[in-house]
Amino acid sequence: MLASDLREKYLKFFEDKGHKRIPSAPLIPEHDPTVLFTTAGMHPLVPFLLGEKHPLGTRLCSSQKCIRTGDIDDVGDATHLTFFEMLGNWSLGDYFKKEAIEWSFEFLTKELGVPKERLAFSVFEGDKENNILKDEEAADIWKNLGVSEKRITYLGRSDNWWGPAGKTGPCGPDTEMFYWAGPEPAKDRFDPNDTRWVEIWNDVFMQYNKASDGCFEPLTKKNVDTGMGLERMAALLQGKDNVYDTELFLPILEKISQLSGKAYQDDAKSFRIIADHLRASIFILADGLAPSNTERGYVLRRLIRRAIRYGRLLGIEKEFTVKIAQRMQKIYEDAYPELIQYQEFIFEELSKEEEKFGRTLNRGLKEFDKSVRSNISGPEAFNLYQSYGFPVEMTIELAKERGKNVDEAAFKEELQRHQALSRTASAGQFKSGLADNSEQTTRYHTATHLLLAALREVLGDEVIQKGSNITAERIRFDFSFNRKITAEEIKKVEDLVNEKIQASLPVVCEEMETGQAKERGAMGVFGHKYGDRVKVYTIKQGENICSQEICAGPHVQNTRELGEFKIIKEEASSAGIRRIKATLT
Ligand code: ALA
Repeated sequence: MLASDLREKYLKFFEDKGHKRIPSAPLIPEHDPTVLFTTAGMHPLVPFLLGEKHPLGTRLCSSQKCIRTGDIDDVGDATHLTFFEMLGNWSLGDYFKKEAIEWSFEFLTKELGVPKERLAFSVFEGDKENNILKDEEAADIWKNLGVSEKRITYLGRSDNWWGPAGKTGPCGPDTEMFYWAGPEPAKDRFDPNDTRWVEIWNDVFMQYNKASDGCFEPLTKKNVDTGMGLERMAALLQGKDNVYDTELFLPILEKISQLSGKAYQDDAKSFRIIADHLRASIFILADGLAPSNTERGYVLRRLIRRAIRYGRLLGIEKEFTVKIAQRMQKIYEDAYPELIQYQEFIFEELSKEEEKFGRTLNRGLKEFDKSVRSNISGPEAFNLYQSYGFPVEMTIELAKERGKNVDEAAFKEELQRHQALSRTASAGQFKSGLADNSEQTTRYHTATHLLLAALREVLGDEVIQKGSNITAERIRFDFSFNRKITAEEIKKVEDLVNEKIQASLPVVCEEMETGQAKERGAMGVFGHKYGDRVKVYTIKQGENICSQEICAGPHVQNTRELGEFKIIKEEASSAGIRRIKATLT
C-alpha cells in the first residue's frame, strides 16, 4: 500500500466514524511557545484538548507534519526521521478508551488487513506516587477484541505515558500498538525489548493537565489523542524493513546516486541523512522559516549544513539541494501543495545556504583537521562556528568520528561572550552617523575598514580617513592623499580587500578604555572626540592585524559576509583629499 493510500484510507475511516478532517497545521507551532516545532498531531489542538470548543466539533482527524530533532543522531537507521507525518484521530471530551481501542483494532485488522498474530500491545502499569491506577480497563478492551493476554504487557511512566508536548499541557497514560516485523512468526509472548516488535500507533488517554508547578490536574473533559507514523507504517505494510525503501524516499535516493555517482549500498547512512535532512528542511522552508543562527532557524541551518557535509562525503561537489527539493515536490505535490506554492523561497534559501556554507566548508574541514590533533577547545569550536559556519553539533560529530571530544561548555561560554559583545555593538553606544543598521549598510561599514587598511598598504601611511558616507547602495570614502590614484593602484586596493573577504576573517569587537585603544594603535577618525570607553573592531589574519579601528559599529561577524568589493569611482574631493565610491555585490 502506498503511503498516500494509507493516508487517505486512515482519514476516510475516521470520517466514517464521525470525525472531521482537519488540514495539517504549520510546523511552527501557533499556540505553544514552549517548543520549537510541531512534534505531534495533538500540538495544534492543545487549546481544544484543554477545553476550548473546536469549531468542527468533538471528533477530528488529520495527517500532521511533524519535526523531532531529539533523535537526529539516530537518523540513518531503519526508522528514525527528523520529519514525519503523523496520522491521528481525536476525541475532545467525546468517546474514550473503548471506542478509541476498538477503532484502532478495526483499522489495523480490517482496513489494513494486518493479521492479529503480528500485533501486540502495551498498557500503563500505574503510578502510585501520582495516584494513577494500572490501566486494567484498556487491557480488558484489548482482550475483549480477542487479543491474547500474552500479547499485552504493562509498562510504566517512561513508556506508556504521553505528554505534555511542551513543559505544561495535556497528557495521560497511553496504550501502544506494536507490529511484528520479523520474517519468522512472532512468539506467543510479547517481548517489548525485541526490536522486531515495532511501535506503530499510540492511543493516549488525555485525562490530565500538567500544571507549571509539576502537578497533574484532572481535566474536566477526557480526551483521546492518537498518533501513527505514516512512513513507518507504510514501510511495514510494504514488507520493507526500513522507511527509505518506500516510494517516499526511493526517487530521492536515486537522485543522490545520480549526483554522486555512488550506489546507495555503498554508503546508505549518508544517503539516508541527506534525504531525511533535506526533506525536513524543505518542509520547514515551505512554512516560511529561513535559516539563521538562533532557535528554529538554527535547527534548519544545522539540517541543511549536515546534509551538505554528507553530500561532500559522497563526493557531490556541485550545488545539489535544489535538485533534491525538485524531486521532493513531485512526491508531495498533491498532499502538500505548499512545496510548490513557496518554491521560490525554498529554492532561494537552499541555494543561498549551500553557496554560503560551500564557500567555507573545505577550508573549515582543513582547520578542523588542525584542531582535532587533540581534543577541541571552546575557542577552536567557536572559530569553526564563526569563521567557517560549522554548527557546533557538526564539530562534535566530526570530532567523535576521530575519537576526540569538544569542550562544549567552553564553546557555549565563548558564544555567549561574543553574543553579548555584538549586542553592545548594535546598541550603538557611540552614534557616529550610522543610523541604518540594515544588513547591507553593516557590510559596507566593515568594507570601509578594509578599504582604509588597503589604501594605507598600497599608498602609504599618509592616507587618513577624512570622512565616510554609507547608503544601502554604496560607500563614499574621503581620505587624505594628494594625487590621482592610478588604475593599477585601484586594482591592487580592490584585490587586497577581496582577498581579506575571501579569507573569511572574523571581525572581533572589544570594549576598552580609550587610552588603551590608542596605545594598541587602533585608528580613530581624525578630529573625532571619544568618550572614556570605546569599542575597537579588529580584523586579523593569523597574527597579522589587517585593521583595528575605534568604531561604534555595527559590523558583520566575518568578512566572508561581504561578497565582492568593487571601486566604481575615484576623484578629487577637495585640495589634498580624494574620494572613492565603492560597492559590494
Ligand atoms: N501524541 C501522541 C504521540 O505523539 C499520540 O505519540
